Amino acid sequence: MTPTPTRDDHFSFGLWTVGWRANDPFGDPTRPALDPVEAVHRLTELGAWGVTFHDDDLIPFGSSAAERDRLVARFRQALGDTGLTVPMMTTNLFTHPVFKDGGFTSNDRSVRRYAVRKVLRNLDLAAELGAQTYVFWGGREGSEYDGAKDVQAALDRYREAIDLFAGYVVERGYDLRFALEPKPNEPRGDILLPTVGHALAFIAGLEHADMVGVNPEVGHEQMAGLNFAAGIAQALWAGKLFHIDLNGQRGIKFDQDLVFGHGDLLNAFHLVDLLEHGAPGGGPAYTGPRHFDYKPSRTEDIAGVWESAAACMRMYLVLRERAQAYRADPQVQEALERAGVPSLREPTLAAGETTRDLLADASAYEDFDPQAAGERGYGFVRLNQLAVDHLLAAR
Ligand code: GCO
Ligand code: MN
Ligand code: MN
Repeated sequence: MTPTPTRDDHFSFGLWTVGWRANDPFGDPTRPALDPVEAVHRLTELGAWGVTFHDDDLIPFGSSAAERDRLVARFRQALGDTGLTVPMMTTNLFTHPVFKDGGFTSNDRSVRRYAVRKVLRNLDLAAELGAQTYVFWGGREGSEYDGAKDVQAALDRYREAIDLFAGYVVERGYDLRFALEPKPNEPRGDILLPTVGHALAFIAGLEHADMVGVNPEVGHEQMAGLNFAAGIAQALWAGKLFHIDLNGQRGIKFDQDLVFGHGDLLNAFHLVDLLEHGAPGGGPAYTGPRHFDYKPSRTEDIAGVWESAAACMRMYLVLRERAQAYRADPQVQEALERAGVPSLREPTLAAGETTRDLLADASAYEDFDPQAAGERGYGFVRLNQLAVDHLLAAR
């Protein structure tokens, strides 16, 4: 059976993904510019539900007010004609040279004030278009040289900006939440809030922490050598997975932005399983947009662009199907039991049990046989092989 994407799958794409002209630091574009209106129509035909964008993807930097209105109007027309939604919007604070030392954390205060203004007008547009999530990816917020950036002051300025935007959203009564997108490096040598963990810690200190979550990207965590599915599990656990950027990455190297699943496939399988079903012993699943932030490879022509967009959705659906089969397999359930996975949900102390009770429980220590417990086999390898078998449709 070939799974076909439908709107109920909540697949969304950035305009900058299918619209990427494939210019890289070594080469010129290999594809012509793509009209955002055409992107809206093509994505709809392919079965997508939403489209997302940076201000500059739709309204070229420096456009006049009249031009801005015209571009927004024809985009809205296309949204109306197709029924495609705009679930998320974001700001380009990285392309123009003015942002070469960052936006909110530039060492130049006038640039910081300009960056804040650029975001404020976009928050209005996001609300107007019905977006529910506003993403902050601080690609230029960082440095190449340790002495060139006061990291603590930069974090103060980052916090100042996010607090200010949250206050603005509350004041205007917009139905918008923020999602911070971590990345370890590229384009800066080192970027502030490099991983999901750094971002979660930063969020805890914000004035409107409840309004702010994360938008983790598969490849970004993997660029730092981290386990993406594990990071997503922690974000869900913290109630902070507000949005997600799905793509593929092969190891610790430059940001590849490959098609979803065209990297660490086994981790992608467990990711989809987690997003769809929650943790095996219980725990929240993910209900937000399945957003693809990938780049059609530079070797592709325009036909290949649409093939790669379709591949992202197909990959998700195939993995979803395989994950359902994995969960439903009685042998998997058995292997999970043997591995002790569900029993980890059980609190270590019984309800009402105190430290004093534990100290008095000889079976927990004095009579406990660590030797015997150390001999237990957990069967994790068998469990993993069952996952691989399901992934390969070998069961
Ligand atoms: C990257 C980033 C960007 C951001 C986007 C949203 O590839 O490094 O993922 O694509 O997601 O700019 O602001
Ligand atoms: Mn990326
Ligand atoms: Mn991204």
